[in-house]
Amino acid sequence: MSCSGSQEGWNSRLGVILAVAGSAVGLGNFLRFPGQAAEHGGGAFMIAYVISFLIIGLPMCWSEWTLGRHGGSKGFNSCPGIFNAIWRSPAAKYVGIIGVLIPVIIYMYYVNIEAWCLGYAVNFLAGNLDFDSAKESTGWWASFIGAGENGAALVGGAKEGMGPLQGVGVYLLAVFALNFLLIYRGVSGGIELFCKVAVPTLVVLALVVLIRVMTLGAPDPAEPAENVNNGLGFLWNPNKTFFEETDPATGEVVYKREVVDKHLIAEFRQQAAQDPERYTVREVSIWTQLANPQLWLAAAGQIFFSLSVGFGVIITYSSYMRKDDDIVLSGLAATSANEFCEVALGGLITVPAAVAFIGVAGLSGIGLSTFDLGFKVLPLVFSEMPLGNVFGFLWFFLLFLAAMTSSISMLQPGIAFIEEAFKTDRKRSTAILGFVTAVGSAFVVYFSADAKALDTLDFWAANFLIFVLATIQIIMFGWIFGVDRGLSEASRGAAIRIPRIYRFVIKFLCPLFLITVFVLWVLTSVFGLNLTSGESELSSYIVDLFVEPNVAAWLSVGLMATLGVAFLLIVSTVQRYKDYQKQEADS
Ligand code: ALA
Repeated sequence: MSCSGSQEGWNSRLGVILAVAGSAVGLGNFLRFPGQAAEHGGGAFMIAYVISFLIIGLPMCWSEWTLGRHGGSKGFNSCPGIFNAIWRSPAAKYVGIIGVLIPVIIYMYYVNIEAWCLGYAVNFLAGNLDFDSAKESTGWWASFIGAGENGAALVGGAKEGMGPLQGVGVYLLAVFALNFLLIYRGVSGGIELFCKVAVPTLVVLALVVLIRVMTLGAPDPAEPAENVNNGLGFLWNPNKTFFEETDPATGEVVYKREVVDKHLIAEFRQQAAQDPERYTVREVSIWTQLANPQLWLAAAGQIFFSLSVGFGVIITYSSYMRKDDDIVLSGLAATSANEFCEVALGGLITVPAAVAFIGVAGLSGIGLSTFDLGFKVLPLVFSEMPLGNVFGFLWFFLLFLAAMTSSISMLQPGIAFIEEAFKTDRKRSTAILGFVTAVGSAFVVYFSADAKALDTLDFWAANFLIFVLATIQIIMFGWIFGVDRGLSEASRGAAIRIPRIYRFVIKFLCPLFLITVFVLWVLTSVFGLNLTSGESELSSYIVDLFVEPNVAAWLSVGLMATLGVAFLLIVSTVQRYKDYQKQEADS
């Protein structure tokens, strides 16, 4: 049991490591990471990714574990309570609501994508996913999630001839209920128990799928360039090669594609030598790629999303630890487990499999975003593979498990906050949070046209607010709590020491890096500034709000604002927070 105010606590060190690793390992590892890496140059992306991991990921992770355990030792488990215990200012508890708002909002749409994974797994097993073309797989996805029309996903089987099992509704009900059953069972009886089974299971399933993918070779003898090796090259090569066709009359590039296969590169070079006016083979070096700020933004964003740092989750989880429990090695272990799943499993399965079946050009034709890769490209790939129904099922079932261990972690910050604010028990806190998130998830699944509600909430909560919370947290650790006090607090009970260099990284480098990345992110993702050409075009998220107002986008922002205001009002009434600050000021 923990020494925190609540009676909850972790049962074992392995349990808390697997729970934090489970929170981190999710769709971000298996779908978002390969798409981001491939889109941003593979090898070059990895350099920016590793640097971001070292100067944002690790320090953020250690500081969250430390702040959380410290808050727990003072009897607080929610982000407002923990911030209030650390920063002697009446503002602290209000700022802390961001750490409740983010996970609650993300849960509302994340559980929906989790339901897609379960639905795809079931339909693969039932033999319902059998595609001949990218268009078919895209069509299936669109009707499954109701992308064509608001409300279509709720009735299920939106397309003629499809039943409710080919619509997301039933799966959403099932996964929603399962999440709340687990959260109702508590930190050790629900979250820890589930993660102890689910995390090793998903790793084993991923290894099985990985072995299958690595032994695919070149499945179509007529297309020898479409093979696993070229898939690995597409993802990891540090230098990139592009083939371009220019219209000699206008000087405009009319066709452009990346080429990985060395025989194809040789053929294209020959073509370019014969008609240099029209054809070019262009090499882009790793250094040119690294000079692009967009690459760094993508790498830093991936680190946040993947490690679940700045989410309000780790700070809550670690508040249930004992005062002398190790956090340095445990934090490193959970983080390393996430990186293994991301780079060694996620990075080796999706893109190589896709290239082996549809080639580099085919892949670029469909898209590399999380949804494209996960729900359009891969189902097509599995349906072309021998025993594809079985491997498709295994793959989507492992994605479902990965998503489950992340989504339950998004509920605990809300539960902790409700219990602390209303001094209520688990039954009531589960019922209140269940009602709020059910309304939010129903909203997301209803406004399914173009996945607008989902996309808008993701942009403002999982991108914008995470940067804000991460920056506040690192400043709180390095400057308000104090970096020396923080590192000494972290070292209590620690099996290893945090390297001394992290004193500098936490105090100066990480906040500076975060603020720079945040400013660049606002400029590029909100105001649509192209950092290379200097041109700008407002992002679709701003257009949806102010230029061509969209109902779903406005309601999504309204939902976030309503919840934010409600949390602020609740926080202002919690006497315990005021008493704590008064007591500290008097002592
Ligand atoms: N960290 C979780 C993921 O990667 C949210 O999906």
